[in-house]
Order: sequence, then structure tokens, then C-alpha cells
Amino acid sequence: RIAGPCSLVIFGVTGDLSRKKLMPAIYDLANRGLLPPGFALTGFARRDWENQDFGEVVYEAVKKYARTPFRQEVWDQLAEGIRFVQGSFDDDDAFDRLAATVHELDLERGTGGNHAFYLSVPPSAFPLVCRQLARCKLAEHAPEQWRRVVIEKPFGHDLDSARKLNAVVNEVFGEDQVFRIDHYLGKETVQNILALRFANQLFEPLWNANYVDHVQITMAEDIGLGGRAGYYDGIGAARDVIQNHLLQLMALTAMEEPVSFNPADLRAEKVKVLSATKPATPFAETTSRGQYTGGWQGGQKVPGLLEEGGFSKTSSTETFAAIELEVNTRRWAGVPFYLRTGKRLGRRVTEIAVVFKRAPHLPFDDTATEELGQNAFVMRVQPDEGVTMRFGSKVPGSTMEVRDVTMDFGYGHSFTESSPEAYERLILDVLLGEPSLFPVNQEVELSWEILDPVVRYWAQNGKPQTYQAGTWGPESANAMLASTGRHWRRP
Ligand code: BG6
Repeated sequence: RIAGPCSLVIFGVTGDLSRKKLMPAIYDLANRGLLPPGFALTGFARRDWENQDFGEVVYEAVKKYARTPFRQEVWDQLAEGIRFVQGSFDDDDAFDRLAATVHELDLERGTGGNHAFYLSVPPSAFPLVCRQLARCKLAEHAPEQWRRVVIEKPFGHDLDSARKLNAVVNEVFGEDQVFRIDHYLGKETVQNILALRFANQLFEPLWNANYVDHVQITMAEDIGLGGRAGYYDGIGAARDVIQNHLLQLMALTAMEEPVSFNPADLRAEKVKVLSATKPATPFAETTSRGQYTGGWQGGQKVPGLLEEGGFSKTSSTETFAAIELEVNTRRWAGVPFYLRTGKRLGRRVTEIAVVFKRAPHLPFDDTATEELGQNAFVMRVQPDEGVTMRFGSKVPGSTMEVRDVTMDFGYGHSFTESSPEAYERLILDVLLGEPSLFPVNQEVELSWEILDPVVRYWAQNGKPQTYQAGTWGPESANAMLASTGRHWRRP
């Protein structure tokens, strides 16, 4: 579907996200013919730029990061609708100029007076920006027009702050106008979780506590936190990605079949399963947190967190976090969901592994199945997107010996279609007014409710354990599973 006439205003346009993701995504959408011809883009920031300077910044970002080939005519058409307004968030005058610029563009470009506001700014700035939009009347609209506001995580740092944040945004924008970005939901492979589960007959009958032993959700990154201290110090891995990306992956894996794929039905199921989820206790045994020290990665020496610029030398911010969740529903009672994430781990990989119970009876000699593990169904979110199934097979030869083998589906092998980048899909959905892929305020609050007790416990119980960069996290992560005879997969 192609977006109708509209304009987009980005606040915080000098940030990394804007340059690396938003601007290229806008160009890619234009290049695929999914934006209206008169689309308008206004950047707002403190930097002392002219329209032309901003145009050049967008141009450079597009040249460097866009996924589709550069086409001059597409760029020229887009560039005509690009403006910049200089100002700070407490500057009434700047917002009045912003309103004037947006209205000028409405006439020049034919946007129909439909506006989306993208707040690519820290949450502490949300209240001010929302109130300014109300004050300069940009938040108001005629009945045939629309206004939408896009906000980026972190949606608060705990339940209480999330509630306050939601309340401030909702003072100006109704919940149906708020689009909260969790870019994992824009990933092709994440959407495929629902397709795999609900378009097939093969998996769903096994997708429950009768057959599943446990579920492991891993989001491992090899990058460190150099350059991100301002955001990350004091926040840590659990708040950064478990509260949002990983709990969303968990919800999609564990939820019941929605009545339909319309946004309300989909969200209702996610809310239900999140309501039934809580962290397993005691936290000393069911959680783990770590902080990387210097080490080697990809043949290169890398510094530890405390040596990264900007981090306090006594920082107890965790760069690795693992938690065990219980989902208290008939489908999942007794099946642990293990979530883990970390920076500077062995390699970059995100996957969901559904690990099955052992067959109740093995009619073989003991030695025949010594090398047989548990069956597993692994959804590889990234990289190497696809699915792997692991099961036992007879080793060729005259004796009966069973060993694990895998069966693979890879997007690259099965499809020639390319998938849009997560931000491309999500920005288009904002412009179309399609809210399915955006978590509602209730999901955000429920996710904090799940995580808060763990983070509070950590704050009161010393420092994270260290782990060497390039390894798979601290010893306590292994201990968490080992006590029940399980172990983390080595992706
Ligand atoms: C962001 C986190 O939400 O996701 C980052 O703030 C993390 O810390 C990033 O690196 C990972 O995104 P992706 O798409 O590269 O897996």
C-alpha cells in the first residue's frame, strides 16, 4: 500500500538513529514508490543549519545507508520537500516557525494537512515537545486530517516512569495517535513467528507444555558500548532490550492464536500473555547479570566497559542480562522461558529456540542414543534469517546409532524477494495509520511490571559478574540453567 498525502517532522534530527535509519528509510520508501509524490520532511534541531545544510545531511545519509540504489530523479523529488527549522524544545518562537514551515509545505506539496511527528529524542524531552506541539496548534487538526506521534524507546526506566510518560503524551495525543517504535517488530523474521505458528498445522499441536521442555530467546551482540555511555550507563542490558525487544519476541512465541490479524485482536493476545508472565524466583538462581572486561574479538583487542569513554570507573551497569520467566497459562505452565542478551558476546545472533522434551521412551541400546540431544525448533531472527529444526537420525552403518542432524530453511535460498528494513516498514505503517506493529501502552507497562522486581533486586545486590569480551557471558548465566540440567545453546 502507498501512503496518502502527508508530511513528517523529525525532532532530534542530528542523532545517529535519524541519520543511519530514518533518513535512509524515507528515501527507500520513496524509491519503492510507497510515498506520495508531494511528501514533505521537516527536521528540527538545535544545530545552526539552513535548509540546504540539512538537505546535504539527508543526502549523505541516503548515499551511505539507503538499501535501494540511488536514483537522481527520486532524490530530486524528495529534496524539494525537505526543510529545516532551528531551535530548542523550550523555544516558543522556534515552534511557531516550525508550524509556519509545516503549513507552507502543506500548500506547496499538497500534504492534505496530515502530519506525523517523530520524536527521536530522549524521553525526558517528550513532555516539552508534546506541549509545544499543542501550544503552537500543530497537534490540532480538521476532521478529515490526521496527526500521529512516533516515540522511540526507552519508554521510561520502570513502571512508574512509563506511566508518567504515557500520561504526558496522552495529554496531547490520544492513544490511537501514538506509535511506539520497537524496531524488532518491524523485522521480517519477527513477523514470521506468527506466520509459522498460525499458517501451519505442523507446529502448533506441539507448541505447549506437553511437548516443550523450555524456550530460549537469545539476542547476542558482538559490539561494545563505546560512544553510548550517555544513554547506557545506569540503564543496562535488561532495560535496554529485554523490557522491549525480548519480551515482544516472548509474547509472539507464547501468545494464543488471535481472532484475526487486525491490530486490536493481535494486541489483545499479546496483552493477555504478558499479563500471565512473571519472573521466576529466587532471583539469585533465576537471573544473571554481567559486565564485559577487555578481551579479543574477531582477532582484535577490545576494551572492557570500564575503559570505554564516558562510563564511570565504578559503573555497575550490566552489559549482559539473563532472566527466567514463567508463563502462567494452561499452555505453558511449568515451561521456563529463558531470555538472555549481551554486548561483546561470541557473535551477533538473535534466535528463539523452542527445545522439546525427550521422547518418553527410547527403544534402543543405551549406547545408541548417547549423542542424541533434545529436538529443537529454532527461529533465527538475524543474521542468516531462517529456521532450523534439530532431530535425531540414524548414523549410516551396520549398527544402530542415533545422532542429531539439522534441517534448514533460509530466506536467502527460498525467496528472491528482498525484505524492507525494519524502520522502512514501520515508518510506512505510521504514514498509513496501520498500528499492528506498535506496542500499546498496556504492553509497555506490563513489560515493566515483569522486569522491575528483577532490576530492583540487582540494584540491592552488589555488582554484576564480569565476563571477558568475546565469550558467552558470566558464569552465573550457565549456573542458572545447569541447576535444572539444562544448558544454553551455543548459536
Ligand atoms: C537497540 C538497542 O534497541 O537495539 C541497542 O538500544 C541494540 O543497544 C540494538 O544494539 C540492536 O538492534 P539490531 O536491529 O541491530 O539487532
